Amino acid sequence: METAPKINNTAQQASTPPHVAKEKVKMTENQIDYPDKTVGLPLVDDAKMSMRDVCVYYADKQAIYDVNLDVGKNEVIALIGPSGCGKSTFLRSLNRMNDTIDICRVQGSLKLEGEDIYDPKLDVVELRARVGMVFQKPNPFPKSIYDNVAYGPRLHGLANKRYDLDEIVETSLRKAGLWNEVKDRLHQPGTGLSGGQQQRLCIARTIAVSPEVVLMDEPCSALDPIATAKIEELIDELSSQYTIAIVTHSMQQAARVSHRTAYFHLGRLIEVNDTRKVFTSPDHQLTEAYITGRFG
Ligand SMILES: Nc1ncnc2c1ncn2[C@@H]1O[C@H](COP(=O)(O)OP(=O)(O)OP(=O)(O)O)[C@@H](O)[C@H]1O
Ligand SMILES: [Mg+2]
Repeated sequence: METAPKINNTAQQASTPPHVAKEKVKMTENQIDYPDKTVGLPLVDDAKMSMRDVCVYYADKQAIYDVNLDVGKNEVIALIGPSGCGKSTFLRSLNRMNDTIDICRVQGSLKLEGEDIYDPKLDVVELRARVGMVFQKPNPFPKSIYDNVAYGPRLHGLANKRYDLDEIVETSLRKAGLWNEVKDRLHQPGTGLSGGQQQRLCIARTIAVSPEVVLMDEPCSALDPIATAKIEELIDELSSQYTIAIVTHSMQQAARVSHRTAYFHLGRLIEVNDTRKVFTSPDHQLTEAYITGRFG
């Protein structure tokens, strides 16, 4: 039996910064006081995407509970929380990738620039070009480097002439910080690149169709620190043009790359605040327990 004291959700305790010495006790599920609604600043004035009362189910098992969250224009928002808390599920609902899972059902309102992304009349292929996704494991197509990047623009008819396509490929590879490493081998297979290069190729492929939002699900978890640093630099540069939502298990990474951080716990969005605040004086005891290592 755990002997940890019950931690109440009082303002005083919640505002205690995590660096203040405190007994490091593990929290157990029956000690959790869930907030009635997400604490902090989940909504913004200049929203690119607005999610309201989002619930996600796998068959009859609920994975996401009543999430209300805006993602701002040109914002980098980090989604953090213990394994299985629903980060990937929530992220995938933002470009209807959950549609590919038969038993998955998404409820609530999810809007991109005010437009309902679950409108049955909406073209899902077009949506996924507007809201692109980079996965945990680099997944280049079994095609050349050039054709990996050119795939989306060809599919969406974005380039009419070969010259246009060459330009899109070069610009995307430059933005992804990969051009100099691959410019002399564009017609060699994308799968022949290193892991970090493959991930940058996947980022180039995603941005080649000029998305408005880029979703990243642990994009660096398969990469070494040098490749990770390159991707993080890239996220910073891309944020001037795109809105980015990134799932990460690395709190250092969340702190380095994001403007706001959203903390999920068992399918609930507990807290959203400016990243600096989340990592120095979070509003909720659960966030604090997670960032100080008492959870997960
Ligand atoms: N395809 C699926 N079918 C059934 N249940 C699923 C499926 N994918 C996820 N789940 C369940 O939904 C819940 C949330 O999972 P999800 O993968 O979104 O968590 P996560 O926060 O991304 O975890 P991790 O940090 O380990 O990647 C978990 O209970 C998980 O078992
Ligand atoms: Mg996940």
